[in-house]
Amino acid sequence: MKAAVHSRYGPPDVVRIADVDEPTVGAGDVLVKVHATTVNRTDCGYRAAKPFFIRLLTGLARPRRQVLGTEFAGVVTAVGGGVSSFAAGDRVFGYNEGPFGTHAEYVSVAEDGAIAAMPEGAAFDVAAAGTEGSHYALSALRTAGIAAGQDALVYGATGAIGSAAVQLLKVLDVTVTAVCDAANLEWVRDLGPDRVVDYTAQDFTADQQRYDLVLDAVGKSTFGRCRRLLKPGGVYMSSDLGPGWQNIPLTLVTPLFRGKRVKFGVPVQNKEMVEYFRDLIESGRFRPVIDRRYPLDEIVDAYRYVETGQKTGNVVIEVVPPS
Ligand SMILES: NC(=O)c1ccc[n+]([C@@H]2O[C@H](COP(=O)([O-])OP(=O)(O)OC[C@H]3O[C@@H](n4cnc5c(N)ncnc54)[C@H](OP(=O)(O)O)[C@@H]3O)[C@@H](O)[C@H]2O)c1
Repeated sequence: MKAAVHSRYGPPDVVRIADVDEPTVGAGDVLVKVHATTVNRTDCGYRAAKPFFIRLLTGLARPRRQVLGTEFAGVVTAVGGGVSSFAAGDRVFGYNEGPFGTHAEYVSVAEDGAIAAMPEGAAFDVAAAGTEGSHYALSALRTAGIAAGQDALVYGATGAIGSAAVQLLKVLDVTVTAVCDAANLEWVRDLGPDRVVDYTAQDFTADQQRYDLVLDAVGKSTFGRCRRLLKPGGVYMSSDLGPGWQNIPLTLVTPLFRGKRVKFGVPVQNKEMVEYFRDLIESGRFRPVIDRRYPLDEIVDAYRYVETGQKTGNVVIEVVPPS
């Protein structure tokens, strides 16, 4: 089969298209013909081994798994022994961080992993873009403990995480202020926030409103800058570790003072989450935002684009061109 492979860590051009063996389908596995996948910031992190400690998981000197890719949507072509919840012909989607392998024509996924039936009526590209940013966003919202009737601000509402967070907060009935740049105001408004702030026209940290949650979905702020935006007991969360990885010690220390605090959510990926996103996509309450689409042969260009830090929402790889 055709796959995007990398045999060393580095910039986008360590990736090349090659012919490799199809994955084997062990007991409890589902073989999926991939129709669509994405290139996202998670793929970039593993490909470049940044932060460095990623190598502890993926191979110290060189990557153990040569085919990357986390999100997928496609059709089941075979199942291994003992598989009862999927059968050949089923349309499925999900998230495969750890085993990876979705940047290929076929991927083998554990039946009990983060895989579920496709949302009814959704195209493969939409479903493929529905789990990476959204699972970081949902993990953060669950860790923050945000609830209906509360107020949240999402900084970086244009990214995969931010655009999902705005929509998932509205599902929870939270009042949302979305912060983005002027060029993206219109489509961010369509995601349903109660208020949109253009960070190029005003300093969002000078906002007069106070929030139960400030979620920095692009890792460009600090707790110090955002502290005044929080209500007493309010929570600051970031998608990144912050300068000097400060969000880790702040997560440990700020709860001791029982006031405004930093929380750092360990992202969870499981079947329940994928099923949750499936139901939301199906009912139209969550719409994964797609920026660009590339064929698998042009995946290096997709990586280069994602690494500009300018993508809006998600970048899809069409492994099977849509008919
Ligand atoms: N290491 C990992 O495994 C990993 C995995 C996933 C995510 N992350 C982190 O999570 C963050 C978000 O990732 P993502 O995929 O959702 O999105 P992303 O690709 O990082 O975000 C891109 C969006 O952020 C906006 N942006 C850039 N600078 C901004 C700023 N100063 N203020 C407000 N918006 C800004 C950009 O639009 P404009 O510039 O036009 O405003 C663009 O639309 C990233 O920082 C990434 O490092 C890390």
